[in-house]
This record gives sequence, C-alpha cells and structure tokens, in this order.
Amino acid sequence: MQVRLAVISNAGGSGKTTLSVHLAYELAKRRYNVALFDLDPQGSLTLFCGLEPPEPEQTLAAVLKDNFDGSWPLTQCWSEHTDKVDICQGGMVLTQTADELVLHKRGAYLLGDCLTDHPLEHDLIIFDCPATLGPLPLMALAACTHIIIPVQLEPKSIQGAAHLLEWYYYNSKHLRLKPSPEIIGFVPSQYDSRRGAHRQMLTALPEQLQQMNIHAFGAIRDSAEFVNASGQGLPLHLYRPSILLKMILKKLPQQL
Ligand SMILES: Nc1ncnc2c1ncn2[C@@H]1O[C@H](COP(=O)(O)OP(=O)(O)OP(=O)(O)O)[C@@H](O)[C@H]1O
Ligand SMILES: [Mg+2]
Repeated sequence: MQVRLAVISNAGGSGKTTLSVHLAYELAKRRYNVALFDLDPQGSLTLFCGLEPPEPEQTLAAVLKDNFDGSWPLTQCWSEHTDKVDICQGGMVLTQTADELVLHKRGAYLLGDCLTDHPLEHDLIIFDCPATLGPLPLMALAACTHIIIPVQLEPKSIQGAAHLLEWYYYNSKHLRLKPSPEIIGFVPSQYDSRRGAHRQMLTALPEQLQQMNIHAFGAIRDSAEFVNASGQGLPLHLYRPSILLKMILKKLPQQL
C-alpha cells in the first residue's frame, strides 16, 4: 500500500518542512522510495533539499494542469547519498495554481485524481503543505491517506491546532472522504526544556489529545543544528556527520 502523508499545520514555522525532509531521508535510509511534494508557494523544500529554484513546468503546478500527461516532474534529492528520494518542487507559481483550484470543478480532488490516473510507484509520498489552510492543503487532505501535525509548544500554535482539527473534521465530511485520512499524531517541535511553558505544554498536550483519541509523539528538541542543516540543503543526518568528522579531525595530529 502506498502511504500518502500530508504534513499540515495552520501555524507558520511549526516545522512542517523540517519534518518532511527528515522523515523522507530516514525512510530512504530504510530502503523505502519516497516522493516529497512541495505544496507551498514559499518553496522551502527546494532550499532544504539543496536544489535550484525550478522552472514552472518543473513544479507541481504543471501536474495540476488539465493537459498533464503523466510525466511527473521529479528531481532526485541528495543524490550523492541516496537514490531513494525524489521531489516534486513547489514555488511562487503555486499561488496562481491555488487561484485556479478554486474555480476548477474538481479543484480539491485534482492531486488525488492525478495520482489515480498516473500512479507513482513510491512507497511513501509526503505532502509538505503551506501554513494557510487554503485550496492547496485542502487538495492534500483529499489526496492523502494519513496526516501528521507538527506543533510548536506556544499558546498560539496550540490554539491553531484546535482550529486545524475543526478544519479536518469539517472538510473530511464535506469532501465525503471515505475513509477520512487518519491523523497519525501531533509532533511537538522546537521543544526547549529550559522553558517552563514548553515543559508545561508538553505535559498537557498528550492529555488533551488523548481525549480525542489522537496520539502525541515525543518532542523534537529545539536545536540550531536544524537551521544550519536546512541552510546547507541537507537533513541533519547528512549535516551532522560532517560536524562530527570535523571534531574528529581536530582531535587528530595536525599532519593528517
Ligand atoms: N527542532 C528545531 N529546532 C530549531 N529550529 C528548527 C527546528 N525545526 C525547524 N526549525 C527551524 O525553524 C524554521 C521553521 O521551520 P520549517 O520551515 O520547517 O517550518 P514550516 O512549518 O515548514 O514553516 P512554513 O509555515 O513557513 O512553511 C526553519 O528555519 C527551521 O530551520
Ligand atoms: Mg514549510
């Protein structure tokens, strides 16, 4: 079975793209084929994957055109390290796509339709969504089998997550998604154990979610390394070894 995982949250900077990238790389290491889809006009995945900005015809925008013939615009990610991760890039052109989706008779279903008509063989497809719950995340909702929700441990983000759940229940029903995609859980992100509010919310969140039968994963800690790695277009897995290597080299005699 192909898993199509939508990474959604209605808070900017909650770690959607970071989570998408790291899940993709971790699963590739475990020999799964992964396709990363950038549904965000910001196109952050391009940066986080160390790629050049694409031409519009090399993006998801081209896939969502009525004349799409099944030639998926996929580019290999981190090709020096793995042959198992492809990306369908996003970017500014998706703002126009979003407008067109609203007018299209099957707007919300278009991505799902493309994947039905022209199936991809990847084991996992990850949809990295923009923070605003507009037509693009709605299309991801209709196309995905599972949802994961990164959330920062800040009151604003937690409140946003409650709205996101309302959005999910309302639209799953409205779009008649049968079955509704499964929420596999919330991922608290950028957790700083030195901050009392973070510690408090990290305790409270699983209890609140449990009442709705939703899982809370362990927290991803706040670390500047994530920012450094994404700036280099690499997942932490690939970025860290070089730091480790540098530290090892420092310890070795100078002549090496
Ligand atoms: N665990 C972490 N620790 C520290 N910084 C992090 C962590 N996770 C993500 N970041 C940084 O926070 C910023 C936002 O992360 P990211 O881009 O993944 O969020 P996003 O939800 O995709 O944002 P947007 O809503 O803009 O798409 C980035 O600069 C990223 O490098
Ligand atoms: Mg993002």
